[in-house]
Amino acid sequence: MNSPISCCGHTCRLSGKKLDARIPQNEIGHVYDKLAGIYDVWAMLTESRARKRAIELAKIENGINVLEVAVGTGLAFHEIVKRNANGKNTGIDISQGMLKKAEKRLKDLSEANYTLSIGSAFNLPIEDGSADVLMNNYMFDLMSEEDMDRALVEFKRVLKEGGRLVLINMTQGERLGSSIYSHIYNISPKAMGGCRGVTLSDRLIKHGFIIVTREYYQQMLFPSEVILAYK
Ligand SMILES: C[S@@+](CC[C@H](N)C(=O)[O-])C[C@H]1O[C@@H](n2cnc3c(N)ncnc32)[C@H](O)[C@@H]1O
Repeated sequence: MNSPISCCGHTCRLSGKKLDARIPQNEIGHVYDKLAGIYDVWAMLTESRARKRAIELAKIENGINVLEVAVGTGLAFHEIVKRNANGKNTGIDISQGMLKKAEKRLKDLSEANYTLSIGSAFNLPIEDGSADVLMNNYMFDLMSEEDMDRALVEFKRVLKEGGRLVLINMTQGERLGSSIYSHIYNISPKAMGGCRGVTLSDRLIKHGFIIVTREYYQQMLFPSEVILAYK
């Protein structure tokens, strides 16, 4: 089993070349509509450990206000809603195909308090300073640097003071073999669903977030960073 490497949460200097986003935001929804049918298999093979850790770090308690941005097929959202059935749970995504899968997954929790809808990270459907927890998994790795900044401004707007931001990103590989995914991205960004390795710690600090932990996970050679930060 890969053990996580905790770092200071400040500047993480990782090896590897920085790659640019290669699928424009206005095409991402269509790309994920097509990937929705196979996404869960990919997620189970390469992302499940990082996602499990993100849910632990989110420390969801029943009765709080949780927003998940880029909810995808609802893998994390199902766990969130299970833990926060009487609180408020809002899930948004720009892909109708991914949301349909999430709706199916959440059927067994139909008594719980949640909404799933189309929505963008750049225009979040909740009030300023209202979220206790904001979760966002594998979205920044699709975005240009400019869009990352736009999304972080929105995240900061909607979080309460002291609210928890929990993120997972595909990151730059730190162990043997992990660069294979960058090679695939270089040949065909769509084959990687537009995801390339990014590191978000410095950008979060620039936006005024306080990083509590940044952990590295590698599963089937796929490198992820899990970050917990406070507003
Ligand atoms: C790699 S998938 C991850 C899905 C889910 N978060 C998970 O971890 O299983 C990326 C998701 O981000 C969504 N997405 C990308 N850009 C977005 C944006 N600007 N606003 C909302 N969702 C976005 C895509 O539609 C897709 O569902």
